[in-house]
Amino acid sequence: MLGFESSCDETACAVTNGTEVLSNVVASQIPTHAKFGGVVPELASREHLESIWPCMRSAIEESGIDPDQLDGIAVTEGPGLVGALLISVQAARAYGAAMGKPVYGIHHLEGHVYSVYLDQENKDSSSEPLAAHLALLVSGGHTMLVDARGPGEYVIVGTSRDDAVGEAFDKAAKMLGIGYPGGPVIDRLAAQGDPKRFKFPRAMLAPRDNLEFSFSGLKTSMFVHLQREGQPDSRQALMDLCASYQEAIVDVLLEKTRRALKLTGHRRVHVVGGVAANSVLRSRFTDLCAQRGLEFRAAPLKYCGDNAAMVALAGQRQALAGLPAHVDVHTNRSIEDVLR
Ligand code: KG4
Ligand code: ZN
Repeated sequence: MLGFESSCDETACAVTNGTEVLSNVVASQIPTHAKFGGVVPELASREHLESIWPCMRSAIEESGIDPDQLDGIAVTEGPGLVGALLISVQAARAYGAAMGKPVYGIHHLEGHVYSVYLDQENKDSSSEPLAAHLALLVSGGHTMLVDARGPGEYVIVGTSRDDAVGEAFDKAAKMLGIGYPGGPVIDRLAAQGDPKRFKFPRAMLAPRDNLEFSFSGLKTSMFVHLQREGQPDSRQALMDLCASYQEAIVDVLLEKTRRALKLTGHRRVHVVGGVAANSVLRSRFTDLCAQRGLEFRAAPLKYCGDNAAMVALAGQRQALAGLPAHVDVHTNRSIEDVLR
């Protein structure tokens, strides 16, 4: 399966065979957007347009396959930035028409859900259905707990009222002037910091069954802290600040996941999306699941961020399930509506 992904600031193409990734090309636009501290949609679309064909050629070349061997093409149809989505949707349609291959539209978040299966040892697991699990989906655009009952069957049990968790990382890093995207930088600095030194709020913990998230207040509290105290006056103070901020985020993600496990009764937890690369998040989830005897999987590090291999795998499952090849562009459809 040939996958395309351009929903935000990564132009990506990949070729997969079941869960085996034959090639995975990602052209990141980070240098373009870094100076603005966030993604500029118009610039993203223009760059996708320039990168999409070179990415596709490299993905096919690196995979070593003959394009005639493809079962089909899978492309992210949403959610995302409309101008960005259009680039790979049109590329996939054009290539599909030229090659006489079916084109499957994939929900971006369903792609992330499948990312945990990529590059698994059992390479021939393409017919294995998605195991029922609780997914914590954490990225620059989404924060969500999803009751994944099987392929195409998703129920959102908790989501953010305002900002996504990745946004909380990125904006804090912007305020601290330490780079973009903020998540990996904060993660690195926090590794040598004291997470108890500064106090940051853990929002929406009450009432005890609350499964919603909110991160805008956390961002504000960083802003207020910097207004009051000024920028950290030493490297150690910066590392402590990053560690304390990150701890507030991870505490909330862990607590809400515990609650969602109680609600859904799942014995398996998956963590996916760009923020799933966070080292403290991964280790605390590993510990939680070990203590409770739960199955745990985090997306492999190289497939946490946006990529087309996850899209291709989701497309392959769609094809195996006999679902019709159909592609549309939608900027805001819920993961609950993937089987429209
Ligand atoms: O999934 P993704 O690549 O794009 C979206 O679909 O949004 O996620 C990007 C987000 C960014 O906000 C970035 O700061 C965050 O993932 N991120 C991290 C880490 N690596 C990437 N956040 C925390 N810790 C990390 N190590
Ligand atoms: Zn994503």
